Amino acid sequence: MDLKQELQNRIAEIEEMLEQYIPVQKEFPPVIFEAMRYSLFAGGKRLRPMMVLAACEAVGGNKKTAEPFACALEMIHTYSLIHDDLPAMDNDDFRRGVPTCHKVYGENMAILAGDGLLHHAMETMAKACFMNPCKETTGAMAAIAKGAGLYGMLTGQVVDVYYEAKPMTKEILDFIHVHKTAAMIRGALEAGARAGGATEDIVAKFGLAGEKIGVAFQILDDILDVTGTMEELGKPIHSDEKNEKATYVTLYGIEKSREIAADLTEEAMQIWEDLGSSCDFLAELTTYLLKRTH
Ligand code: IPE
Ligand code: IPE
Ligand code: MG
Ligand code: MG
Ligand code: MG
Repeated sequence: MDLKQELQNRIAEIEEMLEQYIPVQKEFPPVIFEAMRYSLFAGGKRLRPMMVLAACEAVGGNKKTAEPFACALEMIHTYSLIHDDLPAMDNDDFRRGVPTCHKVYGENMAILAGDGLLHHAMETMAKACFMNPCKETTGAMAAIAKGAGLYGMLTGQVVDVYYEAKPMTKEILDFIHVHKTAAMIRGALEAGARAGGATEDIVAKFGLAGEKIGVAFQILDDILDVTGTMEELGKPIHSDEKNEKATYVTLYGIEKSREIAADLTEEAMQIWEDLGSSCDFLAELTTYLLKRTH
C-alpha cells in the first residue's frame, strides 16, 4: 500500500463528504458560515473521520452509515481547535497553516464559530439517527458525544488549563492526555465500529486501541511542539512552554517520551493484529502516526 497516496485519497473523500454536511456561506448571516468553513476547510489531517470510516469498514459495515458521524466528529474536532487557540486558552495565532479563526474573524465570532460547529455536529448526528433509527446510529452518536464531552475532551481541556504553571504529576498528565486527545480518537474508532454493527466485545477492542493511539498521538504533539517547525506543523511551536504547560517532554524528556509513545503504539498494533487483516489500514495508520512530522 502506498500510504501517502492512500491518505491523500481518503482526505479528498472526506473533504467532499464534509461539503455535503456543512451549510454554504450564502445563508444569513454569512459571517458565521464563513468563519466555520474557514477553519473546517483550512486543511488538517482528517484523522478522526478517517478512523470512523475505516473502523466501520473493518467490521464489515456499510461506510454510508458512518459518514454523518465521521463528518460530525471532524466538526467537533475543529471547534475544539478554534477554542483551544483563543487568547483565553492557548493564545495561538496560526492553525492549519493559516491565521487562527479569532485572528481573522475576531474573538466573538471565533467563539460562535466553534459553538456553531459543535451544534451542527449534534444536529447532523441526530438527523442521521432520526432517518435511520437503530443501535448502529444511536450507538455511534453516543460514542462521539462521550468522547467530546464531560467524560472526554472537554474535561481534558479543563484540567489542561487548570494546571498551567502548577506542579504536575504523571497521573494528572495522563488524565489530561487520555481525556483531551485520546477520548476523541477512542470515540472515532468506537463510533465507526458501532456504525458498522460490531458486537460489544469488538467495540471495546477498537476503543482500547483508540485510547493507546490517542495518548501516543498527544505525546508526539508534545514532542513536535519542541522539535517541529511551524512550516510543517501549520501552528506555532513552543506553545506549551509559552503557556507553562507541563507535557510528556517536560516530565520525561524527548527520548523517554518517544519510547512511551512507541510502546503504546506497539500495544495498539497487537490489537489490530488480533482483529485480523480487515484492520490492515488502521494498523498502517497507527505506525505512520508514530513517525509523523506534522
Ligand atoms: C491537533 O490535532 C490537536 C491535538 C489533539 C493534538 P491534529 O494534529 O489532528 O490537527 P489537524 O486536524 O491535523 O489540524
Ligand atoms: C489540544 O492540545 C487538544 C485539543 C483538545 C484541542 P494542544 O493544545 O496541545 O493542541 P495544539 O498543539 O494546540 O494543536
Ligand atoms: Mg491546548
Ligand atoms: Mg493548543
Ligand atoms: Mg500541542
